Amino acid sequence: MSEKDRVVIFDTTLRDGEQSPGATMTHEEKLEVAESLDQMGVDIIEAGFPIASEGDFQAVNEIAQRTKNAVVCGLARAAFKDIDRCAEAIKPARRGRIHTFISTSPVHMKWKLQMEPDKVFEMVVAQVTRARNYTDDVEWSCEDGTRTEPDFLCRCVEAAIKAGATTINIPDTVGYTTPEEYFSLFKMVRERVPNSDQARFSVHCHDDLGMAVANSLAGVRGGARQIECTINGIGERAGNAALEEVVMAMKVRNDVLPYWTGIDATRITRASKLVSAVTSFPVQYNKAIVGRNAFAHESGIHQDGMLKHTQTYEIMTPESVGVKQTSLVMGKHSGRHAFVHKLEELGYQLASNQLEDAFIRFKALADRKKHVYDEDIEALVDEEIATAQDRIKLVSLSVIAGTRGPQRATMKLDIDGRTAIEECEGNGPVDAVFNCIKALVPNEANLELYQVHAVTQGTDAQAEVSVRLSEADKTVTAKGADPDTLVASAKAYLGALNKLVIKRQRTKPEAMTATP
Ligand code: KIV
Ligand code: ZN
Repeated sequence: MSEKDRVVIFDTTLRDGEQSPGATMTHEEKLEVAESLDQMGVDIIEAGFPIASEGDFQAVNEIAQRTKNAVVCGLARAAFKDIDRCAEAIKPARRGRIHTFISTSPVHMKWKLQMEPDKVFEMVVAQVTRARNYTDDVEWSCEDGTRTEPDFLCRCVEAAIKAGATTINIPDTVGYTTPEEYFSLFKMVRERVPNSDQARFSVHCHDDLGMAVANSLAGVRGGARQIECTINGIGERAGNAALEEVVMAMKVRNDVLPYWTGIDATRITRASKLVSAVTSFPVQYNKAIVGRNAFAHESGIHQDGMLKHTQTYEIMTPESVGVKQTSLVMGKHSGRHAFVHKLEELGYQLASNQLEDAFIRFKALADRKKHVYDEDIEALVDEEIATAQDRIKLVSLSVIAGTRGPQRATMKLDIDGRTAIEECEGNGPVDAVFNCIKALVPNEANLELYQVHAVTQGTDAQAEVSVRLSEADKTVTAKGADPDTLVASAKAYLGALNKLVIKRQRTKPEAMTATP
């Protein structure tokens, strides 16, 4: 494994991922994700977009203070105020990076920036120079790079490197390129730009045509040595290249992709579950590497093959990505010590007050549910993490349902420490529950998605409900789990409302850009 074949992993779950509609995370959730990425061996954590809001700034700043190994990076548009704010946010980092970008494609320059190419060129130099005054680790991205005219692209890349950029990212912003084309693009730029050997090249691919991972790996074959990616592939529109997929592709097919990363792949499953829990974005069942069916063998022929030799149908072991065999873990007689041990085994590190709450909830669950599986504990703890800062909390719920309507629900909530009760009818029990919430917390949000699935098997399995709400241009998703589907529904709806409250406090930066 030579150093020239080392591919640096730049994770943008907390920036591009969090930017995607509905994926809002709270401050504490971002810290938790950053810690998990750092432990996994991610080289660079793009922690946010500091100018976007006070919340984004605080998150980048605290991640910069806490991160032990990774470089902590903030995003900045091509504006001095963005770069100055970003520099301030990453200041406490042991190693900090400023990532500044501007569009270079004809369509973006003409319609989005409404700027002439010469002006854009001038800004590239000015912004990279500004960023270099703060740190010697500066990344420059040519937004919509794959639709940029080659001569102009090479001119800008050369100037950015000359001004001090140490990483050059050529993003496929709109997920338009193909593997062959992206390979040739990197080859061409590296050959034509005279100072290209003074920077590391980076890929950043979106998945609009389902080719983000293939394109990223093609870019690496073309000479890039940084991959920008996200856990579970979350990100703008169809998402970004999935970290777990690019990492495992290089590991499993090292014969044809002879590159290596510093990622501890056994931490992948935990990180995937954490990101799914805090964003409430379910992972597709058949998703590569981290989907719940990724290592499941249902058909008789496959099971027969697996029993004879696992390599018949498995190209990597579940253990290699941190999948543990589901086990019957605990019951109502299990004590605190066993619970803490189980949490450690599942990869959780909870603060003592969170641990106490989680243990109380585990005991309550064990009283109601005969078998408590790993998945039950994960759902319980993930909910504990996701709801720790909630302002609106469910205190109690009772519902009268049955063949004769209308169905009725009575709900008690704690809203900022104040108790409120309401009783409502509905067209079905879920409708009655949601009507109670609307009466107690008046809001204009639209219910865009309501989905229920069982966490494990059996009629006493916990129901996991996902709810997506939208209000004006804001979309949020949340999950709730409980053996009672109606309680899980109420928790999910309230979780989404709590996220909307956070989102309302944030402002959205304009698309681009202010002159320096
Ligand atoms: O997709 C994109 O072009 C981006 C840039 C900010 C790198 O996310
Ligand atoms: Zn992007």
